[in-house]
Amino acid sequence: QFPLPIPPVKTPAMTITNPVTGNPIDYYEINIHSLTQQVYPNLGPATLVGYDGISPGPTFLITKGREAVVRFVNNATMANSVHLHGSYSRAPWDGWAEDITQPGQFKDYYYPNSQNARFLWYHDHAIDHTAENAYFGQAGGYIMHDPAEDALGLPSGYGQFDIPLILSAKQYNNDGTLFSPAGETTSLFGDVIHVNGQPWPFLNVQPRKYRLRFLNAAVSRTFLLYFQRSTGSSAKIPFKAIASDAGLLTGPQTVSDLYISMAERYEIVFDFSPFAGQNITLRNTDDVGEDDDYLNTDKVMRFVVSPAPVADPSTVPATLRTVPFPPALPGNNQIDHHFEFERTNGEWKINGVGFNDVENRVLANVPRGTVEVWELENGGGGWSHPIHVHLVDFRVLSRSDDDDRTVLPYEAQGLKDVVWLAPKETVIIEAHYAPWDGVYMFHCHNLIHEDHEMMAAFNVTALLD
Ligand code: C2O
Ligand code: CU
Repeated sequence: QFPLPIPPVKTPAMTITNPVTGNPIDYYEINIHSLTQQVYPNLGPATLVGYDGISPGPTFLITKGREAVVRFVNNATMANSVHLHGSYSRAPWDGWAEDITQPGQFKDYYYPNSQNARFLWYHDHAIDHTAENAYFGQAGGYIMHDPAEDALGLPSGYGQFDIPLILSAKQYNNDGTLFSPAGETTSLFGDVIHVNGQPWPFLNVQPRKYRLRFLNAAVSRTFLLYFQRSTGSSAKIPFKAIASDAGLLTGPQTVSDLYISMAERYEIVFDFSPFAGQNITLRNTDDVGEDDDYLNTDKVMRFVVSPAPVADPSTVPATLRTVPFPPALPGNNQIDHHFEFERTNGEWKINGVGFNDVENRVLANVPRGTVEVWELENGGGGWSHPIHVHLVDFRVLSRSDDDDRTVLPYEAQGLKDVVWLAPKETVIIEAHYAPWDGVYMFHCHNLIHEDHEMMAAFNVTALLD
């Protein structure tokens, strides 16, 4: 077994000045190029393509209020587009799928970084090739801090007590190369679980609290995570969920397992202090969302807890923040838009429309500044569709309970930008469509569904005054 890699921190190449406001802007450069990774000691290497030639890419550590320009230089062989998932970027820098950068070219992206603390991620969004590009390595973490969160006393220190855990699931050929999702039309579940690019790693930890930031960067696999002792009692160990896609929850939610579908982020605090000198295994439940399971997809990674007690100055306050939920609307049941995600005639569609249907793909016009309620319905067939809406943070109002799930406590107590639509579910979300106008995408984050057209757009229209 191999240690958990911690992606290195990206540092700015220089600081420039915003010509309008005079504020400093950090300027970064990321070079996208191929890399080889020896995954199996006795087989050949796999070829990937990563940001700065690593996968996952380097982690950005951003302080709220500090603007950034990132030049993404494409030295790979395929066109790309970069989306900073979780950022309310202006439309020209949001990674629109057709706004692709060809090999040998670059594009400069501007990020305002004025949202509250949260765990964002940057990944490829190129039309028809997102699954391939992201799976072969174009994904990385982007952590935003703000003073209010820093003051809470949560476990901190990137790579020390604040650990990103970027999950993916891949499949290898017999020669050690990566099996490509390029020819797939439904899903690629993957039989090898990776954390930060390493299959089934371990992390040495101290017997104290850690902040663990989960991101599901898999193409098609949903996880239901839980912790248990590696030997002895098999009971699930409770932990505190503290944050979701759009940052901190109202307060910590104590749970003993965690659903995380593609592109979702959940952050937890896990207390290793009762387990000094023991091993803890992070596991995945089989048969989540009707995903295909394999011999080893029930395990994710292992924590090796050192024996000697340590001081732990960190705390998890009972109140984390006041979450800016969109206001309750008059006439609670009004649905502004209904979207059905379904497979028709072998194609993945939203209300019967696919992204290549250029004339019809803008499915909603929303005046800027309004609050809307959208109903998202899984059209059936046993598929999961994690739905991502660009630009906004939304509240999950309800989840149909055909099966057995309702809105989970860690979904309800924060804001989200992706919601998992499990088979047969209907979910209602509410968002404030602001601060910018522009045409933005919304889509299924099973990247194969996305590439096969399960993507559409909404137009936030300007206010006329
Ligand atoms: Cu994470 Cu439109 O994507
Ligand atoms: Cu889907």
